[in-house]
Amino acid sequence: MKEKLESYVDPKKLPAHVVIIMDGNGRWAKKKNLDRISGHREGMKSVRAVVKGAKDLGIKHITLYAFSAQNWSRPKGEVNALMELLRQYLLKEGDKLSENDVRLNAIGRLHELPEDVHKVLTQTMEKTRHCRDLTLTLALSYGGREEIVDAVKKIASNGKISPNKINQSNFSDYLYTKDLPEPDLMIRTSGEMRLSNFMLWQLAYTEIYVTKTLWPNFRKRHLVKAILNYQKRERRFGLTGEQVRARDVI
Ligand code: FPP
Repeated sequence: MKEKLESYVDPKKLPAHVVIIMDGNGRWAKKKNLDRISGHREGMKSVRAVVKGAKDLGIKHITLYAFSAQNWSRPKGEVNALMELLRQYLLKEGDKLSENDVRLNAIGRLHELPEDVHKVLTQTMEKTRHCRDLTLTLALSYGGREEIVDAVKKIASNGKISPNKINQSNFSDYLYTKDLPEPDLMIRTSGEMRLSNFMLWQLAYTEIYVTKTLWPNFRKRHLVKAILNYQKRERRFGLTGEQVRARDVI
């Protein structure tokens, strides 16, 4: 009998935080002679499948790069359609997230979102504030460089830390992700090998997994494959392999 791939996942070595660059919606649509917006609409199915899949696998944090600070420069029709899809997702899924104990969180320059989207986003975050099983973070109007600049501005303007007291730990407290664990695994779909201004600070020691699968085709089994690949890796954080293995037996 063919064993389910999922049964090979070691629950003791799950990544605490998986972040995903959802890419390839446009190419998926083009292949099917559809418009780009149909690709984004299809991508929503993958969002639902991956959130459910992550929860079922026992992952505690998942972050999806849904709209970058640079995406505002796309054609107006596409930006509007993406905002509308996001609004609909939040309206439709709000109750389901809460029923499934999924807390919604968001990072990015959220004040730049259209007012109606911002409102439903805030309401959904409030509605799911008590949820604990999985935290779903949407990166919206998000840019890694923007995040770092925003952190520097906050530090400079509130004057609470003198420059010689700034270190990696207290600097992280000024990032949008201050309440999230470091990402263990970053998945990028559609085969592109770049970071696209995503979590530039946070990805320092994250394991990267790139798959050729286009985002609208991505399902739980693809997430499982990424996790199995992650579980085979040796994370060294700048140490030697011998040091890491010695540490693991202690
Ligand atoms: C990248 O594909 C994808 C985006 C810019 C948007 C992703 C958005 C969704 C999946 C829908 C909304 C999400 C949520 C969480 C409600 P691309 O358009 O750059 O594809 P291409 O590189 O093939 O053109």
